[in-house]
Amino acid sequence: MKATISHIKADIGSLPGHTTVFDPVINEVKNFIKEKSESILTDSFVSHVGDDIQITMIHNRGIDDFEVHQLAWDAFKAGTEVAKKFGLYGAGQDLLKDSFSGNIKGMGPGVAEMEITPRKSEPFIIYMMDKTEPGAFNFPIFKMFADPFNTPGLVIDNNMHDGFIFEVWDIVEAKRIFFSTPEQMYDMLGLIGSKSRYVIKRVYTRPNHEKLPDENVAVITTDKLSFIAGEYVGKDDPAGIVRIQSGLPASGESLEAFSHPYLVSGWMRGSFNGPLMPVGLKDAKMTRFDGPPRVVALGFVLKDGKLSGPVDMFDDVAFDGARKTALNVVDYLRRMGPFEPHRLPEEEMEYTTLPRVLEKFKGKFETIESPKKKKELKVTTKDVD
Ligand code: 13P
Ligand code: 13P
Ligand code: MG
Ligand code: MG
Repeated sequence: MKATISHIKADIGSLPGHTTVFDPVINEVKNFIKEKSESILTDSFVSHVGDDIQITMIHNRGIDDFEVHQLAWDAFKAGTEVAKKFGLYGAGQDLLKDSFSGNIKGMGPGVAEMEITPRKSEPFIIYMMDKTEPGAFNFPIFKMFADPFNTPGLVIDNNMHDGFIFEVWDIVEAKRIFFSTPEQMYDMLGLIGSKSRYVIKRVYTRPNHEKLPDENVAVITTDKLSFIAGEYVGKDDPAGIVRIQSGLPASGESLEAFSHPYLVSGWMRGSFNGPLMPVGLKDAKMTRFDGPPRVVALGFVLKDGKLSGPVDMFDDVAFDGARKTALNVVDYLRRMGPFEPHRLPEEEMEYTTLPRVLEKFKGKFETIESPKKKKELKVTTKDVD
């Protein structure tokens, strides 16, 4: 029988700025899910990274299910009421619509869902990031499923040797394209290196995969809050579900993709590049310059609709080196203040509050000497002779 993993997340208010969730708020969400989910879900887990509450839900209803989405929406609504009561910052930040209209997509929260054929053992990892955007998953998902230097299974496991199929979305034009790796790897990299526009949405096994043919094995939230709200309302902090083992990247191959704290955009005011730091739940709060951007990994095993776990995967000394590198990069970048490339390039600042500041200079620019005139004045070697 098929099973569905639905992961839905939202920022509904935080303490004191965009630092972390407040216990009474997350407890309200947990209790709501516990009390109202009996006829809908077979299991669930509520957690958080930074100021984003994350609901992992298991059920048999397929993706885009009305009741599953409504359950998450109503839980976030109930949590928002508590956040408002305490006057928390950004209470209800990601709930952009007044009432639920059938599908939570496009309403503010981030959604990652996949319907799967569970294996005898069905291990998977939920990755949750704060202070960054969906394209932050491009680098690690590529490494897990397409880079043999990260994932030796691509070379030495015959079930992985033929590679994987990637579904890439253009989130500006709302279009998608599929790539098969390794043969189209360079084509795909040409797009996904532009991570603010082209984002990996899903990864599938090939039809000839011996253990798990034609299956969705990874999915990422791609919801763009600023596009929905029409203005900057916080970044679109993403989450992803990655199935592991048995013809897929091993647990350690999946985690290895985060051992290098690569640069992502987000951080302070959603306007800066910074290193993505892997942390355990105990460090999932955003402090220095509202960051640095962080990723938490929770490992589960699914059996007969029930979850075992989670294991807090980055809560381990093996990732101390990555954290140290990230903090060195933080010191280095912060000294650049408001300059690129620490601050995001101009095109991306369009989605922040900067355009409103620059508005006041409109019409105040004076015309300077045109490049054509300059050319006429140029003295050539011949003239001097
Ligand atoms: P499986 O192929 O059984 O998933 O084992 C691979 C592995 O875990 C090596 O680390
Ligand atoms: P969030 O997107 O996590 O709410 O953070 C917004 C922000 O402006 C941080 O400085
Ligand atoms: Mg926030
Ligand atoms: Mg956040």
